[in-house]
Amino acid sequence: MSIHIEAKPGEIADFVLLPGDPLRAKFIAENLLDNAVCYSQVRGMLGFTGTYKGKRVSVQGTGMGLPSHLIYVNELISDYGAKTLVRIGTCGGMRDDIKVRDVIMAVSASTDSSIISRAVNGMSYAPTASFDLLLKAAEGAKKLGLTLKAGNVLSSDIFYHDVEITDPYAVWRKFGVLAVEMETAGLYMQSSRFNVQALSLLTVSDHLITGEHCFPSERQTAFMDMVKVALTLLD
Ligand code: HPA
Repeated sequence: MSIHIEAKPGEIADFVLLPGDPLRAKFIAENLLDNAVCYSQVRGMLGFTGTYKGKRVSVQGTGMGLPSHLIYVNELISDYGAKTLVRIGTCGGMRDDIKVRDVIMAVSASTDSSIISRAVNGMSYAPTASFDLLLKAAEGAKKLGLTLKAGNVLSSDIFYHDVEITDPYAVWRKFGVLAVEMETAGLYMQSSRFNVQALSLLTVSDHLITGEHCFPSERQTAFMDMVKVALTLLD
C-alpha cells in the first residue's frame, strides 16, 4: 500500500492506463478488460487490474492537473514498479487543423506550470514521449484504421483564465502547440526521471477557437477509439 493507492504488492500490472476520471477507469475495466479487479478506492480514485487479449493491464484514475497526476505516477513507479504509463485523456484543440474528435499523440509537452522548471533549477526542460511508444501507437492506429495527429501539447495549470484575457493560448499557438490539457508534461518528466516509458493520447473534446464541443455519445466513441489505440501498445 502506498499513501494514495491501497493495492497490495503485485496487484498492479507493469502496463498502466491513466485516465483523469476514475469513472472512466471503471468503464474501461468493465467494458474492455477481462477479469478486472478493483485494487484501490482511496479518495474515490479507482484503480483496476485485468487482462486484455491475455495480457495484464491496470487502469488508474489520476484526477486533474499536474500535482494530482504526479502523485499517482510517482507511486505507480516507485511503490508498484510500473514500467509503461499511458495517459488517455481529453484536450482542447487550439489550431484550425485540429478538430473535435481527433486523437492526438503528444510527442512533447510545453507547460505554464512551475513544476518542471523547479525540477531543473529554474532552467527549462523538454518533456518528451517514449519514441518506442510513439512508433507503436502510430502503427497500432493504422491497423485500426484510425489517424492520429502528432505534436506538442500544452499542459496548463489553468482551466479558467481571467475573463479579461481574450486569447490566453495565442502565444502557444504561435509556436505550433496543437492542444491544451493539464497533465502530460508532468508524466513525461517523471517517466524520464525514473527511466520508464510514457505516452499521452488525447481526444479533442472541445475547440478553443470554434467553441465546438463533442456530444457525450461522440466523446465516448472517440474516447474508446483512443483506448483501443492505447491497448495496441501491449503487442
Ligand atoms: N483546457 C484544459 N484542459 C482541457 C481542456 C481545456 O480547454 N479541454 C479538455 N481538457
